[in-house]
This record gives sequence, C-alpha cells and structure tokens, in this order.
Amino acid sequence: MHSPAQRPGMAPWGDAKLFFCILFIIYCCTATLAQIPMDCCLTVKNKTIEKTVLADYHQQIKGQGCSLSAMILVTRRGRRLCVPDNEPWIQEVVKHVDILKKYCKNHSYKGNRCFGVKRA
Ligand SMILES: *[C@@H]1O[C@H](CO)[C@@H](O)[C@H](O)[C@H]1NC(C)=O
Ligand SMILES: *[C@@H]1O[C@H](CO)[C@@H](O)[C@H](O)[C@H]1NC(C)=O
Repeated sequence: MHSPAQRPGMAPWGDAKLFFCILFIIYCCTATLAQIPMDCCLTVKNKTIEKTVLADYHQQIKGQGCSLSAMILVTRRGRRLCVPDNEPWIQEVVKHVDILKKYCKNHSYKGNRCFGVKRA
C-alpha cells in the first residue's frame, strides 16, 4: 500500500507561502494596531485636580491619530483625565509630576510617595 503520491516540490513552496502569510498577518496587524489611537481624549475639561493624586501624564497631539490636542493626566490609581494642554495650571501639574517621577526613579519606586508611579 502506498500513500497518495505527493507532488515533489510542493512542500517547500507550501512552506514559503505559509511563511509569507504569517509575515503578512504580523505586518498587517502591527500596522493596524499602530494606527488605532490608544484611547484618545475626545473632549477636555478644564477642571483642576490635586496634583498629589497624579502619577503620570501624556501629551496628546492633534493629527497624530487623535482629533484634538489635550493633556492626559493619569492618577495614581490609573484613572485618565483629559484636560486642555494650554492652561497655565497644567504646566505646573506637569512640572510636579516630572519631579515626582525623577524622585521615584532615584528611590526605586519605594514608599507611599511613589504609589502608582510607573517605572520609566
Ligand atoms: C481653567 O481653569 C483655571 C483654574 O481653575 C482658570 O484659572 C482658567 O481661567 C480656566 N480657563 C478657562 C478657559 O476656563
Ligand atoms: C538620588 O538621591 C540621593 C539622595 O536622596 C542623591 O544623593 C543622589 O544624587 C540622587 N541620584 C540621582 C541620580 O539623582
């Protein structure tokens, strides 16, 4: 008994196709992911927040996948707040968070003061 004949040369080409297929999927998915804006702020609220509850911030720039410019403030508990990026009080908050992040990096993110501050 012989198993059904395999055409010679079929297998390598099949492997190549599979390889390109996987490559394509990887390329395709990562490209798509990069284009999906990660949680854009759709509106901003000029609502001041106690700076000591903050652990991080990100600048959102209009045109880079998001429809408006904003400052995203991240609390120690991971909540994200969308605030305008052009208010003087935000600059103060950002400065404070920068100092906090530097401090925590130097102190191995230990202690209450660094609660919620992510390693950078
Ligand atoms: C935003 O809030 C700050 C602080 O409460 C205030 O000084 C400023 O006038 C506000 N800006 C606008 C455009 O309402
Ligand atoms: C870290 O903190 C210590 C004391 O608090 C200070 O002497 C040292 O210069 C700091 N290191 C850095 C890299 O900032």
